[in-house]
Amino acid sequence: MDTYLIPTISQALQGEVQISGAKNAVLAVMAATLLADGISEITNVPHLKDMKTMSDVLRVIGCRVDGGPHTLRIDTRGANHLEAPYELVKTMRASFYVLGPLVARFGRCRVSLPGGCAWGPRPVDLHLKGLEALGASIKVTHGYVEATSNGPLQGGEFHFPISSVGATVNVLMAACLAKGKSILHNVALEPEIDALIDYLIGMGAKIKGKGTKVLQIQGVSSLTPGSGSTIADRIEAGTYLIAAAISRGRIKTTKMNPQHITALLDALQEIGCEIQTGPDWAIVDATKKTLKPTSITTLPHPGFPTDLQAPIMALLTTIEGISLVQDTVYDDRFTHIAELERLGAKIKLKGNTAQIYGGSPLSSAPIMASDLRAGAALVLAALVAEGETSLSRIYHIDRGYEDFETKFRSLGVDIKRVS
Ligand code: EPZ
Repeated sequence: MDTYLIPTISQALQGEVQISGAKNAVLAVMAATLLADGISEITNVPHLKDMKTMSDVLRVIGCRVDGGPHTLRIDTRGANHLEAPYELVKTMRASFYVLGPLVARFGRCRVSLPGGCAWGPRPVDLHLKGLEALGASIKVTHGYVEATSNGPLQGGEFHFPISSVGATVNVLMAACLAKGKSILHNVALEPEIDALIDYLIGMGAKIKGKGTKVLQIQGVSSLTPGSGSTIADRIEAGTYLIAAAISRGRIKTTKMNPQHITALLDALQEIGCEIQTGPDWAIVDATKKTLKPTSITTLPHPGFPTDLQAPIMALLTTIEGISLVQDTVYDDRFTHIAELERLGAKIKLKGNTAQIYGGSPLSSAPIMASDLRAGAALVLAALVAEGETSLSRIYHIDRGYEDFETKFRSLGVDIKRVS
């Protein structure tokens, strides 16, 4: 298993990073291609392990998936094995997105439950309840979800009790082929949902209410293959902008949409960074700034994203004073705390709120990544920890950050990957 060796940076990070396509947008759109018969295309795809995993899931179903390093061409004409096996679904939760399209298009499918992840259970009850509201009959046996429907799904109304990205994705896709009108309330507002809606409309879906909490879908009998580009990865962009703050440097992220990370930019400004933004770029400048502690609470979009909770915590450990970080989306997503403490951070966790006693110098230690965003956060902390830090299990980072080492090297980090 690969490990990163990360020496303390000798100077503040300076430079520019071009942001890749958003993996979480691609994963939903890849599943959406199952709604049509033919060859769909997706461009600006990041070259990441999660894309390979989802391609393998589609291949098991009978699709052909090919294309260049940043393009996917998905031919669904061979889709006939309506199953997503545990071996694949357990490695990537988003494989569960094939449930909605398969039952909507073929009237039956068998998809493994995704199981938990590094920080605890990840239920799918809202995915299932939403599909039942469209007339699917759902059975959960032996770790699999068996979904069937006699003829097409029926348009229905469903209120999501909590805002769920994945459940919104699954139910929205199914509603596109349901007979009649569906109304979905309290849907997730993440930019990846808007991107999926755009792609689905391009396939002939009839969806109203993009960007609002209520979606109205007029089902159609069939959709045509889609094609479209992928929005920039707001979490990748946020990670590099936090790197500017933690190193007290200046970084510009390009080919991204600063409107997708306003909560982060507001927090960094509150902390004392200078923020500049343009139509497709953002700059965080923390050079010679005295940064102040703050309180962060994660919320569904447009609130502060839970995926940047670990990275901002790494930053807060370097700021003199007491900061608070509360995660209201996943109240147990704190496996990175133990690793940050190994670097010398002083953090006290009470329920879903971490108290960070920032300012004490960090020093290198052998540490390990427990999930994608915790891994990125630990790299950020290692940049300013005295000595060379070794970070193991970086396969987590490979899942979600394209050209991670190359981009950090271009900023002046002498990061090395060793096997
Ligand atoms: C998506 O996961 C993202 N993954 C996650 O990013 C992200 O952390 C999360 O949204 C929140 O923004 C992808 O897009 C592939 P949710 P998802 O359903 O859809 C509860 C990354 O690092 N819930 O919005 O699984 C759930 O437990 C990954 O790229 C139910 O109770 O998240 C959580 O508390 C990690 N029942 C809350 O809703 C359900 O049926 C939000 O989860 C579904 C969710």
